[in-house]
Formats: sequence, structure tokens, C-alpha cells
Amino acid sequence: MLSDKDRIFTNLYGYEDWRLEAARKRGDWDGTKDILAKGRDWIIEEVKKSGLRGRGGAGFPTGLKWSFMPKESDGRPHYLVVNADESEPGTCKDREMMRHDPHKLIEGCLLAGFAMGANHAFIYLRGEYIFERNRLQAAVDEAYDAGLIGPNACGSGWDFDVIVHHGAGAYICGEETALIESLEGKKGMPRLKPPFPANVGLYGNPSTVNNVESIAVAPTILRRGGDWFAGFGRPGNTGTKVFSISGHVNNPCNVEEEMSIPLKELIEKHAGGVRGGWDNLLAVIPGGSSVPLIPKDVCDTVLMDFDALKEVQSGLGTAAVIVMDKSTDVIKAIARLSYFYKHESCGQCTPCREGTGWMWRVMERMAKGEAEVEEIDTLLKVTKQVEGHTICALGDAAAWPIQGVIRHFRHEFEDRIAARKARQAGAPAVAAE
Ligand SMILES: Cc1cc2nc3c(=O)[nH]c(=O)nc-3n(C[C@H](O)[C@H](O)[C@H](O)COP(=O)(O)O)c2cc1C
Ligand code: SF4
Repeated sequence: MLSDKDRIFTNLYGYEDWRLEAARKRGDWDGTKDILAKGRDWIIEEVKKSGLRGRGGAGFPTGLKWSFMPKESDGRPHYLVVNADESEPGTCKDREMMRHDPHKLIEGCLLAGFAMGANHAFIYLRGEYIFERNRLQAAVDEAYDAGLIGPNACGSGWDFDVIVHHGAGAYICGEETALIESLEGKKGMPRLKPPFPANVGLYGNPSTVNNVESIAVAPTILRRGGDWFAGFGRPGNTGTKVFSISGHVNNPCNVEEEMSIPLKELIEKHAGGVRGGWDNLLAVIPGGSSVPLIPKDVCDTVLMDFDALKEVQSGLGTAAVIVMDKSTDVIKAIARLSYFYKHESCGQCTPCREGTGWMWRVMERMAKGEAEVEEIDTLLKVTKQVEGHTICALGDAAAWPIQGVIRHFRHEFEDRIAARKARQAGAPAVAAE
């Protein structure tokens, strides 16, 4: 188990005060000027050395992403954009960081912004996060008053502004280019890439979008060293990570743990175990609602990191662990997610706009057994026609959960269809119903 001395988010549960004075006692803003004095290249190299991969879902290496920003300005300003949209079902980690440890994020903005030649950071919060926005704004105000940000931030000679911006509550605004559009005051619709934000981002200027956690861990990495962070987890999957554990567990929680911890250990040690015991487990969605579920026999041994979950045809995503015990109607549960993706599709791409609604309607029928067995393969085929054929990854996010449930629970679909047919034929209902 990760020891307390190695935790980055030491106030994740809000047991202590969030304000600047208390944050400083926890080590925030300690020697920030000295870190800045080491220069942009040093910061980027140290983050590369740490092995940090983006915590927003895709797991792209953070140091590498920062290095894509132009070294010199061509006259255009550079921007850091922090993605605090956090709308992936099951995910609630950034919320706690902003509530209880806001100074980690603000200090991270300064260090990351400086490393990318940005004098401005924009933090884009999801519409529902009103409390968090107020808290974050109060912390930003404190940082300005203390001279930690603003002109000559921390006495470093670097001017740095942080702007807290509130979205209107749309899942799609978490997609980085939709977020940029929304920040610009337009409808949150993803842009075609290329060009990538590092070349043409916010207001047409070089920009980098990073998740809250990716930015908030940076100051500790830079203080304790990239090698320290890289010492946790497996190669290619390093660091500590905040997991959100919800669903049929005895103690739903957010917890910072070592990357690559076994899923079973994570659930049993921190979430009080599965309701009714481990053997009552049916399946887990390990990385937020868009990744395919994994059945119990995979959960028995799988490790919680990017590569291990990819090997079992799922993903770490946002590391939001949704636990389903044997009382779950797994087809209905995934059908409910299909409804979410249909509702959140921005409608630009035909496969997503039409496909999400079509998949949801078929999933609803499947949940009741109102289908033909051949339709299971038709449904699967449609998920493949949506996956990879859209402007943004929402299409994939809608397709993957259905692929996962068919891969592991096809028998449930078949049993339900058979039971329905038997009922219609007047035969006694079978066990599946
Ligand atoms: C539909 C959709 C929703 C997303 N929502 C979020 C979100 O709420 N928060 C987030 O950090 N990333 C979200 N992402 C991922 C972002 O596009 C982007 O990859 C991420 O902010 C990059 O930060 P990172 O490199 O630090 O992970 C979403 C992606 C898609 C396709
Ligand atoms: S995949 Fe869906 S959400 Fe993404 S741009 Fe296309 S229509 Fe919009």
C-alpha cells in the first residue's frame, strides 16, 4: 500500500484547511522560484523522466506533450488550458483536488505554463461544479494577493495569469478541441485534427490541454524528482494515481494509490470490498464508463494500469472503477450508458449522431429480450462502424461498452431472447428471467 509520505494529495479528503497558509504547511509553493530558475528544458525533461502519462483518459505522455509547444513564440501567445470538465460517468477525482487541494493545481499551472512559454492558464470547469469554481477562484485570488501568480510570479520575472472559466455542463466539452471552442464562446463541438492545439489551439494560438490531475501532480514531481515518481508502478505505467471507486462496494471512495496495484487489492483495501464478498462480483468497468467492462475472472488478477488493462481489451481511462455485483442487470446497465452517449453526442458526425441512438434503441430491446439472436452480431457490426469513424472519441466511447458486454455476456443476451420467445410460445419461463 502507498505510504502516507509518498502521497501527493495529502488533503484529498478535506480533513485540513484548503487555504494558502495550510497548503504551504503541506509543502505547496515551496521553492517554486528555484524550480522556475532551473529553466523550461529542465522542467520538461524532469516530467519526461517521471513517466507521467495524462490523467484525462488517453494516457498520452505529459512531458512529450509539453515539448510539442513551439520553443520560441512566433509572436502569438502560448496558452495552457486545464481540463476540469470531469464528466465521464464514475469519475470524481478532479472535483476533490479542486475542493481540498486547489493550490496544487494553481502552482502546477504556473510551472507547466512557464515550461511551455505560456503567460496564461485557463481552467475550464464543468457546469455543475459551482462550489468547486468558487473554491478555486478564492484560491486563485489568494495566490494573486501573495504574489505567487500575476506579474513577476513568485519573484521569477515571469508574468502569469490564471483564469477560472465555467462551462455550461456538457460532456462533449471535455474533449479538448470542443473545450477550446467552448472557451472561445462557441458551441462545444470538436474540431478536426490536424491542426493540433500545440500549433492552432485557443484563439488560433499554440495551446496545450491537460487534465487537472496531470497538472496538479507536476509541482511534487519537480520537487521530489522525476525518478521518485517513476519509482512507482511498472515501466511505462508510473506514478501514483487517484482512483475513484463506486458502485457495489461497501465504501465508495477516491484514493491515491500506486499505479499498477491489483484491482482486487484496490477494491478490498480501500473500498471495503464488494457488497456480499468478492465472489458476489459480476464485472467491473475499470476506467470510467467509456471503457469495456471486465468480468470477475479477469478482475481476480488484473493490474490497474494502462498496459495491463489494454491487454485484457479494456483501458485505464480516467481510473474510475465502477463495480457491479451479481444483482446487476448488466445489459440494462450498459443500455443506460448507451443512452448517455446518445444524449451527449454533438451530432456533427453521421456515424455518431445516428449510431448512438440506434445502438441505444437496440440495447433497450436486448435488455428485454425483444430481439432476434442474429441481431447481436448486427449490433456488434454497427459498433465497429462507429468506432474509429468519427471526429472525436465519443463515438468510440459509445461503442466500446457494448463491445465489452457482448464479448463477456453474450450468453445473457441469448438467454433473454430465448426466454422471451418461450414466454410468447406459452412455455414456462426459464431461469434467465
Ligand atoms: C468525449 C470526450 C470527453 C472527454 N472528457 C474529458 C474530461 O472531462 N476531462 C479530461 O481531462 N479529459 C477529457 N477528455 C480527454 C481530452 O480530450 C484530453 O485528452 C485530455 O484533457 C488531455 O489531458 P491529459 O493529457 O492530461 O490527459 C475527453 C475526451 C473525449 C473524447
Ligand atoms: S464523434 Fe460524436 S461527439 Fe464527437 S464530433 Fe462526432 S458527433 Fe460530435
